[in-house]
Amino acid sequence: MAHYTLSSCVLLALLVMVFTSYLAIAEQHNVLSYGAKPDGGTDSTTAFLAAWAQACSSISPSTIYVPPGRFFLQNVEFKGPCKNKAIVVRIDGTLLAPTDYRIIGNAGNWILFQNVDGVTVSGGVLDGHGSGLWDCKRSGKNCPSGATTLRFSNSNNIVISGLTSLNSQMFHIVINGCNSVKIQGVRITASGNSPNTDGIHVQLSSNITILSSKIGTGDDCVSIGAGTTNLWIENVVCGPGHGISIGSLGKDLNEPGVQNVTAKTITFIGTQNGLRIKSWGRPSDGFVRNVLFQHAAMTNVQNPIVIDQNYCPDNINCPGQASGVKISDVIYQDIHGTSATQVAVRFDCSIKFPCTGIKMEDVKLTYKNQPAGASCNNADGTTSGVIQPNSCL
Ligand SMILES: *[C@@H]1O[C@H](CO)[C@@H](O)[C@H](O)[C@H]1NC(C)=O
Ligand SMILES: *[C@@H]1O[C@H](CO)[C@@H](O)[C@H](O)[C@H]1NC(C)=O
Repeated sequence: MAHYTLSSCVLLALLVMVFTSYLAIAEQHNVLSYGAKPDGGTDSTTAFLAAWAQACSSISPSTIYVPPGRFFLQNVEFKGPCKNKAIVVRIDGTLLAPTDYRIIGNAGNWILFQNVDGVTVSGGVLDGHGSGLWDCKRSGKNCPSGATTLRFSNSNNIVISGLTSLNSQMFHIVINGCNSVKIQGVRITASGNSPNTDGIHVQLSSNITILSSKIGTGDDCVSIGAGTTNLWIENVVCGPGHGISIGSLGKDLNEPGVQNVTAKTITFIGTQNGLRIKSWGRPSDGFVRNVLFQHAAMTNVQNPIVIDQNYCPDNINCPGQASGVKISDVIYQDIHGTSATQVAVRFDCSIKFPCTGIKMEDVKLTYKNQPAGASCNNADGTTSGVIQPNSCL
């Protein structure tokens, strides 16, 4: 018995040692200690920057902690490179952008992380207070373009989890020039008629996963820009909004392609589009290849399946030209539900570079309880399983 007690003591001492050394390693920086005020009105920008400076210059893993409360923040840049690759920003509170959209409306971004490696943003609510700017834009006045709520640029090994983003002025989350990003369990909400409020936009980035999220905005739920490779989207509910869109691509002549994109188990509710690929009707060396759209449920979606290669807003700089973007190997598998328009499948591909290798398997879309219609231009591919509407490939 004595022997047993002795070894328990040794074990306990060991545990205490491990625990205290763990505390010594993981530094905590509570923004309140740097002067942030959870009162919704005091400008906490410099306090957040001071906490970041400490976390970033630390050689051990560090956590920036934002406790419950409402924190007012102007546009802020969290810049690397940092001295450690394990910074966690844990947010239990709400961050508030200025209500006057003019203050950050031309800043490009509200919260920007740049040149960082190994940063996790966990929890929290980001309120972009975008409605004033949307009103301005909708009234046709001359307005600032608006700030993206959360942007990661030129960064690697990023995790965004359990975050809520509300009413961004412009895009909610942008991933630009990044490698290895995981976005999980986020909720993104803006009104269905808010302009340019895309949920998540990815460009010039690789190895990106977007999981278990709910996105409803006035623009694309997820938009996929040039230079995106190895993107995995799974378990996303989309609506209101413009759907999941690869593009717009091919606005520029020299443009990197989009490659290896999977979107599976997606629910679209009342969206303008479901699964879309879109390119400008202009010369370009861009491409889209190896795309898998799998297990999508559509409810009252205006264009459930669409490839549009003749995008030419306001008929400026493209009329009469053909898209140079080469689209190949796109699979639609188990896509079902209801279309809000008669034409549920539309492949309008480039006359100069027809779409090739389109595969449809088990697609069943109805319009007013009848089989919907399909329309094809310059699209080549194969079908298997149940195909409704009848294929026009
Ligand atoms: C993406 O991940 C793959 C597989 O892990 C890796 O080989 C590749 O280098 C990554 N991409 C970049 C740009 O690092
Ligand atoms: C495609 O992307 C997935 C992740 O989205 C990755 O696991 C896979 O290795 C990639 N395939 C190729 C051929 O790069």
